[in-house]
This record gives sequence, C-alpha cells and structure tokens, in this order.
Amino acid sequence: STRRKLVVGNWKMHGSHAANAELLQGILAGGPVNADLAVCVPFPYLSEVAVTLANSNVAWGAQDVSAHEQGAYTGEVSAGMLREFGCRYAIVGHSERRAYHGETDQVVADKAKAALSKGITPIVCVGETLAQREAGETEAVVKRQLSAVIHALGHCVGEMVVAYEPVWAIGTGKVATPEQAQAVHALLRAQLRAAAPQADNMKILYGGSMKPDNAPTLLAQPDIDGGLIGGAALKAADFLAIARAA
Ligand code: G3H
Repeated sequence: STRRKLVVGNWKMHGSHAANAELLQGILAGGPVNADLAVCVPFPYLSEVAVTLANSNVAWGAQDVSAHEQGAYTGEVSAGMLREFGCRYAIVGHSERRAYHGETDQVVADKAKAALSKGITPIVCVGETLAQREAGETEAVVKRQLSAVIHALGHCVGEMVVAYEPVWAIGTGKVATPEQAQAVHALLRAQLRAAAPQADNMKILYGGSMKPDNAPTLLAQPDIDGGLIGGAALKAADFLAIARAA
C-alpha cells in the first residue's frame, strides 16, 4: 500500500535515566529510516525524552492517558498535561491495562476521545486472548473493542491509529503468522471503512513478539502498516532493524 509505515516502541515499565539515554542515542545514531518512528515511555521520563528527541525524526508518546479532563483523579495524567510537553501519541487500551487495571471498552473509548480532544493521536489496542481465539471469537472480540471507540470518536475516527495485538502473542515469543495477522487487519480495515472516509489512509499496527526476523513478512502484508514493539524496542539495534524492514 502507499501508507507510510509507523514503528512504535512501547517501553512498558522499563527504563532509567541512563538506560533511556543509551537507547535513544542508539536509535538516533541509526540514521534515517523509511518509516515514521516513535517511542512511548513511562510518564516520569516524558520530559527528558522530549528534550533528547527535539529536532529529531523520532516522535514520542505516553503509554496511557486519563479519560478525564481534570479533577480529583489521584495518579492520573490528563491529555492536556501530555499536550503541554508536546506529546504526539498515547497508547490506549493496551491489553495489559485491560487485564490488570480493569479497563473496559467504554473506558478505552473515553480515553481515546480525551486524547484526540487535545490533539494527541491515540494508538488504540485491540486483540483477543488465546481462549477467545480457540473458541472462534477473535472477530467478534476485536470488532466489539473497535466499535466502542468508533462510536465515541464520531467524525474523528480517521485520526486514530489502531494496533492489533493478539494477547497470546504479547511477550510470549509466539508471533501471529502473517496470514493470521493480515486476516484480522483486513477485518479491522473493513470496519473502519464503514465508519470513516479516511479508512484507507489510517494505520493499523501489529503488535506481539515482533522481532527483526519476523518483521519483514508481517510488514509486507497489505493491511499491516507498522508495528507496536515491546521487548525488541528496548534494544536500539533490534528496534532499528524492525524499522528498516518497514
Ligand atoms: O505494545 C507492545 C506489545 O505488547 C508487544 O510486546 O513485543 O514484547 O511482545 P512484545
């Protein structure tokens, strides 16, 4: 397709001043790649990452955002606060947040809407568990997850990024085959087409054990527009190798 690929590193709860500096210097030293790059980092490091990546071609974002604009929500970070730092992206509805922090489809949709209202691009994650896949529920699950967000965003649907992350492939080394991933991406694209005139320009990323060796065939699929990378994003050489495959 003609869609430019987007490769996003999700650092999850990893990092330190020293490790971040080394990782980012490694990425920046890699030189230009033919894809858009971003890193999504833990909240405390946003400001230092913003400084390190200023005037670079690597964008940056958060791993979550509050659904609320402001108020008595201890521990939450608002989209407006992120925007003040120049934050470009916020991951929303990652399966780890859905599983460990009770985020429902409605909460995820509200977070995506809150991000967009401040000009932050939500990277909305959907994906089925192994039990759901084995029960033949993959299509119903990802459709339900995306549908809530489509409904909440209304005419802004075209501005989000979608990430398909089969839960059974996250951090397990068990990557979806290119055919399995493409099949779900095509379903998601069709769902977006019914909701947004820009659907063919929207990015649908794949996430789940994407590594330098499996990235080329995944990224060659017609509806896979990039990757949301966990473990392999913590090594500059691996992250760059995936970016070069895009
Ligand atoms: O957001 C990233 C995904 O959860 C993938 O993580 O590459 O470590 O499997 P992983």
